[in-house]
Amino acid sequence: MTTTLIPAQLSMDKQKLILLDQTLLPEREVYLELDNKEDIFEAIKMLRVRGAPAIGVAAAYGLYVCMKNSKATDFKEFSDEFQITKDYLATSRPTAVNLFWALDRMADRFKKEKGKSIDETNKALLQESEDISTEDKQMATAIGEHGLTLLKKNMGLLTHCNAGGLVASGIGTALAPMYLGHEKGYNFKVYADETRPLLQGSRLTAYELHKAGLDVTVICDNMASLVMKEGKIDAVLVGCDRVAANGDVANKIGTSGVAILAKEYGIPMYVLGPTSTIDLNTATGTDIDIELRDEQEIANGFGRRTAPIGVKAYNPAFDVTDAKYITAIITEKGIVYPPYKKNIRKLFKESVSK
Ligand code: MRU
Repeated sequence: MTTTLIPAQLSMDKQKLILLDQTLLPEREVYLELDNKEDIFEAIKMLRVRGAPAIGVAAAYGLYVCMKNSKATDFKEFSDEFQITKDYLATSRPTAVNLFWALDRMADRFKKEKGKSIDETNKALLQESEDISTEDKQMATAIGEHGLTLLKKNMGLLTHCNAGGLVASGIGTALAPMYLGHEKGYNFKVYADETRPLLQGSRLTAYELHKAGLDVTVICDNMASLVMKEGKIDAVLVGCDRVAANGDVANKIGTSGVAILAKEYGIPMYVLGPTSTIDLNTATGTDIDIELRDEQEIANGFGRRTAPIGVKAYNPAFDVTDAKYITAIITEKGIVYPPYKKNIRKLFKESVSK
């Protein structure tokens, strides 16, 4: 891939988790070096690192870093500390299932190393966290390739929030087909919803697509209906934080409104994400825990009063799009069409039997 992407936004070096502080974009590119659980928790909670796959990779790397820096003198103490750190990081954000998926993978690996020394266990934890990151990168490319089969040259594409290179080790999910298409001269016209209240669309999606040389236009969230009506949009591509077993999708607040509009205007609505974002233990969207964030993000946006002091604000960070509004779910293992309950199970069964 020759497109200039953002520099590695999430990595590990000398027992530190290194991440690009996304809260400072697009104005400043500042890398943080974190080596303790409190700072790693804060970085996830405050969206310095964000987006479902990246939260998973950061938690896995973070858990390793904490254990590598552990002062435990015997294995029992080390094991107790592992559990406490894992449980603590798991409380940083509730909606994206990738956080729990990655932490559980680290815990399974920890169990497998039973009887080994602290040093050997740490080596295994390092390997597991690196595997999670490498797989994430490979999945992003595969998602992009599957997604691109649904798109044609010169299409107008709408996306909501940010699901690109900033949310993964690779080229992301919803933006992955855009990057691959760009390499092949597809000449997409991308519309990025600005995505209130934290502006992941205008601050992050526009930042990374523009940097990579794609044609991107920022619109306010309330303009999506108009641009669809004007015929500017041929497909909607969004990421996901958790897909329930019936195909209901939790993603950034506002996604469900975009999906309802897309249906009204006859525009395909594609959800793109790795299978690690599909949670077969969550039956439907109503079972998904939706994160409620500080009302100051709305009432005092980016350090400026955007509502009078004393006025209440309601700030759910995600919403659930009913499966009936989703044209297809695109994963690294292939494209899933309705009926989702049956076809999601089929996807998992096929990949296990391969
Ligand atoms: O609150 P955020 O910025 O972490 O929300 C991110 C999103 O909603 C993304 O669309 C989602 O995580 C998919 S990223 C592949």
